[in-house]
Amino acid sequence: MSGASEREANAGSSPTLASSQSAEPAWARRDAEMDRFLDELIAKMTLQEKVGQLTLLTSDWESTGPTMREGYKQDIAAGRVGAIFNAYTAEYTRDLQAMAVEGTRLGIPLLFGYDVIHGHRTIFPISLGEAASWDLDAIEESARISAVEASAEGIHWTFSPMVDVSRDARWGRGSEGAGEDVFLGSLIAKARVRGYQGDDLGAIDTVLATAKHFAAYGAAQAGRDYHTVDISERTLRDTYLPPFKAAVDEGVATFMTAFNEYDGVPASGSRFLLTDVLRDEWGFDGFVVTDYTSINEMVPHGYARNLAQAGEQALHAGVDMDMQGAVFMENMVNSVEQGRVSQAGIDRAVRRVLEMKYRLGLFEDPYRYADAERQQATLYKPEFLDAARDVARKSMVLLKNEGGTLPLAADANRIAVIGPLGDSKPDMIGSWAAAGDRQTRPVTVLEGLRARAGDGVRVDYAKGASYEFADEGKTDGFAEALALAEESDVIVAAMGEKWDMTGEAASRTSLDLPGNQQALLEQLVATGKPVVLVMMSGRPNSITWADEHVDAILHAWYPGTQGGHAVADVLFGDYNPSGKLPVTFPRNVGQVPIHYDMKNTGRPIELGAPGAKYVSRYLNTPNDPLYRFGYGLSYTSFGYSPATLSAASMGPGGSITARATVTNTGDRAGEEVVQLYVRDLVGSVTRPVQELKGFEKVMLQPGEARTVSFTLRPEDLAFTRADITHGWEPGEFQLWIAPSSGAAASTPVTFSITE
Ligand code: NOJ
Repeated sequence: MSGASEREANAGSSPTLASSQSAEPAWARRDAEMDRFLDELIAKMTLQEKVGQLTLLTSDWESTGPTMREGYKQDIAAGRVGAIFNAYTAEYTRDLQAMAVEGTRLGIPLLFGYDVIHGHRTIFPISLGEAASWDLDAIEESARISAVEASAEGIHWTFSPMVDVSRDARWGRGSEGAGEDVFLGSLIAKARVRGYQGDDLGAIDTVLATAKHFAAYGAAQAGRDYHTVDISERTLRDTYLPPFKAAVDEGVATFMTAFNEYDGVPASGSRFLLTDVLRDEWGFDGFVVTDYTSINEMVPHGYARNLAQAGEQALHAGVDMDMQGAVFMENMVNSVEQGRVSQAGIDRAVRRVLEMKYRLGLFEDPYRYADAERQQATLYKPEFLDAARDVARKSMVLLKNEGGTLPLAADANRIAVIGPLGDSKPDMIGSWAAAGDRQTRPVTVLEGLRARAGDGVRVDYAKGASYEFADEGKTDGFAEALALAEESDVIVAAMGEKWDMTGEAASRTSLDLPGNQQALLEQLVATGKPVVLVMMSGRPNSITWADEHVDAILHAWYPGTQGGHAVADVLFGDYNPSGKLPVTFPRNVGQVPIHYDMKNTGRPIELGAPGAKYVSRYLNTPNDPLYRFGYGLSYTSFGYSPATLSAASMGPGGSITARATVTNTGDRAGEEVVQLYVRDLVGSVTRPVQELKGFEKVMLQPGEARTVSFTLRPEDLAFTRADITHGWEPGEFQLWIAPSSGAAASTPVTFSITE
């Protein structure tokens, strides 16, 4: 599906899912010279050396999991390991590389991996925040800059993008992905892969990308990390797999398995996922790494009797490289010698790994990424910092703006910044911030506002409250904060979650503001001063009280190294907010999981009178969320004309173009994300009430109108049908062109697909 404003229609349309399918990535092209080189090399390798190439270990620089293996340097020197993660800088990777290249019999270079998720040194907003920009070019640019910085520090491979769809705000890892939607998530997956890998894996400023965590990790029961996943194959295929498929279509070089089980089988042992779907259906040609000790975890899962069996199951399923568990390292030679694993199986995995090393140019020059001068010249370039600030402001979502509270009034001479996130450098960059400096570089909200406020404007700070769970009920800092509030013209309450309350192993059973922040917020509102809530968090919080009582709410996620400047840009109106939510915000945790593309049920609430019994509803909370997927305000306003269609129906091979005119009806220039939703009214299986099928971000001057058009083909409406085949079905459809999801957001038009 394409979305292109008419003005730009001839210049080419937005990235599409269907149009970019299955172009073979440049790196996957056969290369006779490489094949000869690898044939010779593999022929020389002992079984032990081969298993070494299938082993990835962490260095002791950082810990991103529960185990730390002693003696990784001895393992390198002995040729027992082919790849290292959590090691970076030109100097350190050069030292480790020398151990492998100069100290082992065959001198096979190491591959260096790292979690470069939303920036390497220059930190961009957390991935979920970037998704809220709906700006694919900006997201690609962020990944590009991350690759340039990371590769200048010796890194060849990032464990990113995380493309897990997530619909459960309790799950902490939603912060690392692109939110709840299949279509938006797939386009973002592609943008990130393009950004990291560029067109040429052999260029020294690109890195291998990893689509993770395969698969359905975001569907963990009860939102508890690592928990069981139990979903139908249809849900797997329609909701959780498409962003992975999109990553394959974009040429992603590697895949990482998930911790969870799917259909009773741990993902690292799932031949269905790793071979039937990934290799046979999708034609993936890169290599598959496990997640951290996830082969070992097949024992506590109750799927393997012991580690040796787990290793065999993983290799048979399609795993090529064992992250950190050393299961292959310690058992695989024996498994081959005993005939439980074939030499051919090992050779296949080894070749996949060595091919990537070859494509990166490591056999030509193993030190080519470890260049101290380049490192010095590359990190924190001013243009990288500018880009981080720009992406940060694009990511922010204005959720409420009563009476034009924002932008801050010109006569606001005293601004009180209050709250635990108002002047906290460590929090600004969120979790998984790679080699980002948490202590000195990040610009806080206070610093950003002070830097921007003109002469004669005083910006003061009082922490006032705490986000620590243990501080709930305490009121120590309240008096100071309230005194400051009383003296001020406007209160900027910087509240939310501590940076490590989202990310891995950071699930919550409440979505409320943690600590004593809610109590202070209520007292701040009671002063009668205007209150602007700047939320920082990696998940949708239940800020229902705030929505009713504060004057303005800006969701800033964790905005990165330049975050404070970006907040100031928005609060002072130097930037007109344009972000839209990539996830639904529930009213309270009891609505979770909640997402816009739900099914209608047989007893939809609309069928009953208000408050009626025997319809699908809660007794104590509306069904509607607090904020819908796709929602976000601007300092200007936009009007939408009714949508029109080029035809009332289309057949196989045909298409329909939908159009609507969007007008900037306010008095400021602003950007609007125009969204296209479709509902398939009747199917061989029930269909969601709406599905996003296109979007276009348009900049409009005051009074300017633009007709935005979207072209739909039958293939864009494909899904997993009753017989588990993928395709479209003839029938009736509704279509909306709207500023957000939700049937009330605009009036639908109807079309059909004929046989
Ligand atoms: C575990 C996480 O699940 C994964 O996303 C990450 O890449 C690895 N640890 C390595 O740090």
